[in-house]
Amino acid sequence: MIFNTGRHMKVKFRRLGLTLSAAASVLSACGGGSNDSSNNPALNPTDTASDVRASAIVAQMTLDEKISQVHGAGTTCAVSGASCIPGIPRLGIPDQVPTDSSAGVKTSLPNNLALAATFDTQLAYAYGDLIGKEVRQLGFTESLGGGVNIARELRNGRNYEYLGEDPLLTGDFIVARTKAVQAHKVVSTVKHFAANSQETNRYTASSNVDERTLRELYLLPFEMAVKDSQVGNVMCAYNFVNGIKACQNAHLITDILKNEWGFKGKVQSDWELALDDGVQGANAGLDEEETGSANDYVLGPFGKYSQFNQRLKAAVQSGAVPTSRLNDMVKRKLRTLIEVGVLDDAPTATTIPADQLSAGAKFSQSVAEQSMVLLKNAVHTGSNNATLPLTASTTGKIVVIGGNADRAVMGGGGSGHAPGADASVVACFRPGTKVGSAGVEPACAPWYASSPLSAIKSAAPNATVSYIDGTDAQAASAAASNADAAIVFATRFQSEDIDLPSLSLSNALTDPANQAYDQDALITAVSAKAKRVIVVLEVGTAVTMPWIDSVDSVLVAWYPGPQGGPAIADVLFGAANPSAKLPISFPKRDADLPEGPITGESLVYNYTEELNIGYRWFDAKQIEPLFPFGFGLSYTTYAYGNVSATPDGQGNFNVTFTVTNTGTRAGVETPQVYAGIPFGGEPPKRLVAYQKVALAPGESKNVTLNVDAKRLGVWDDSSQKWILPGGSYSFYVGGSSRNVLATSGGTVTQRSL
Ligand code: BGC
Repeated sequence: MIFNTGRHMKVKFRRLGLTLSAAASVLSACGGGSNDSSNNPALNPTDTASDVRASAIVAQMTLDEKISQVHGAGTTCAVSGASCIPGIPRLGIPDQVPTDSSAGVKTSLPNNLALAATFDTQLAYAYGDLIGKEVRQLGFTESLGGGVNIARELRNGRNYEYLGEDPLLTGDFIVARTKAVQAHKVVSTVKHFAANSQETNRYTASSNVDERTLRELYLLPFEMAVKDSQVGNVMCAYNFVNGIKACQNAHLITDILKNEWGFKGKVQSDWELALDDGVQGANAGLDEEETGSANDYVLGPFGKYSQFNQRLKAAVQSGAVPTSRLNDMVKRKLRTLIEVGVLDDAPTATTIPADQLSAGAKFSQSVAEQSMVLLKNAVHTGSNNATLPLTASTTGKIVVIGGNADRAVMGGGGSGHAPGADASVVACFRPGTKVGSAGVEPACAPWYASSPLSAIKSAAPNATVSYIDGTDAQAASAAASNADAAIVFATRFQSEDIDLPSLSLSNALTDPANQAYDQDALITAVSAKAKRVIVVLEVGTAVTMPWIDSVDSVLVAWYPGPQGGPAIADVLFGAANPSAKLPISFPKRDADLPEGPITGESLVYNYTEELNIGYRWFDAKQIEPLFPFGFGLSYTTYAYGNVSATPDGQGNFNVTFTVTNTGTRAGVETPQVYAGIPFGGEPPKRLVAYQKVALAPGESKNVTLNVDAKRLGVWDDSSQKWILPGGSYSFYVGGSSRNVLATSGGTVTQRSL
């Protein structure tokens, strides 16, 4: 494993009692402010009622009060979260407590990459809805989910927290999530701004990326979150972008985010080490330091001083940071609290009712079932049927092998992990020991106590189902030779702070804390003897499969959450029909990726592949992936036809086609529309539209998807603007990025967007 050079540690605050009750009306609570005329934040002609109200509160605040609102400060909030900014009761400002909630805060959900595999934005809304509701019920004001870093580097340890390799899919999902979370009067976050593509040297390395690539790939989801869902909080990243720390980067924060996109919320630093020059940060547009501290002159736990408390005050007093900037920082905070509804209706911590939690668990299982991607499903020699779904009646003897499938399913690590894992169900082999040149602890995977084995037994009550762990490949292979079906579970742990050394399944060498044996060797040995082999992968990014030709079926279950066991069994036995698609490409080998292995030696990551990441890379270089972006099988089959595309005269296109269920089961297909853009440097195609379509057996539907001109936009370096390039457009329609029907969309003239 490749570790970060700094050790990550979550700062937890003590629970001190009850949340402050919702404060009285701000205007009536005003009073006691300083007489300093610089306290009067200027009003603009375009100010909304929220702006005016926020400015009125700022005008009442003392310098110390303002400073208190722009940094986390330790342990004085009533609920315990990732940080705490104490409120100011006299002004009706409540405590502000963010909580990590990437995949849930009380109810744990499958990870975000799994969610993206559903290609279902309504489900993304429901996912955000559950999270927002619980975040508020628990008394928090801000949700720290919303990771949208594009999977440029498939070995990035945090890919499981993000939404895959496509900026449109990622953008659509963050917009749905943000709207849902903020509807619960919770400030939603989008993170990590920007180009935060790997964990190795994350505090020190610079992502060097040209403007066009930045805009079209890495910034687009942020832009959508700002413009299409009015996200309240943007968390800037630990890394440098083009040599300047992201949280001190005026081009990113002020020029693009605030001035160009019109973002009116606040910019919050990532935790602990994102800021090293408070004056530069404040003047670049950073609005809030996390985790901050009660004293900027006491060395923090990570060997750095905080910046936005006494140091910022001194900088404002000396004029190094203008008072107008401090006022703006506070105004943005207050305006967001007003807009989202926190200021007038602050949360009070409550107990989440049991029936809500059980509905949440059902939802979690349903998301897991909808997110699992069936990659291979061969007809076994001597049989007429595909291997999956298994039928309880024809599968007399099943052996389940490895992956702790008798006890648990794996979760990802770090702040993206949703609570609810039971650490004791699976032992970590090296807790607390030190390995690696960076001298950091190997991470122990969290596991949810949900047994696929028990669920398989319930699904096949008349079958003989046995379990053998994977430590002895020969014993597993012998057991498999005796069974009608062998189901091999393979897991690979990923976490914040740690990148993967390769896309291979892990073994005892590459993950000594969590893995005792060579999983590739196990699958190969079992395949040599078994009648049917089904591989279930619990992973948070792509996997290489040297054994792919010798297994019958492969199901990617991602990190499926606490109902993973029953969800996997439901898919294996056909109670659920797989409908998910890969939100990332699966390459045949690491050497097919644009980048060499992450060695930890470099402090500069040059994005020299420019726009060619993920499927764009495989298309541009004509490399056959193992499984392409957008790919996923079902227990039925689909056919496409009658594809046509017409421009509407406004720069948009309507793409029309038929999709037919050619099999014997009802299913849900995800037609995808890709466009070839007539502009130099663009990859052969990009995803521009998609939709879930439910089809009964034999049913055919005519589908028209509108492709908004914005989705065809190119960042024009010469004018520094988005344009719709003039020329002739091609469209490609199908059930994956590779299996497509092409059509010409006709010609349009260039226009600005
Ligand atoms: C992570 C953030 C997270 C924060 C608070 C940081 O290390 O990068 O994504 O929200 O910790 O836990």
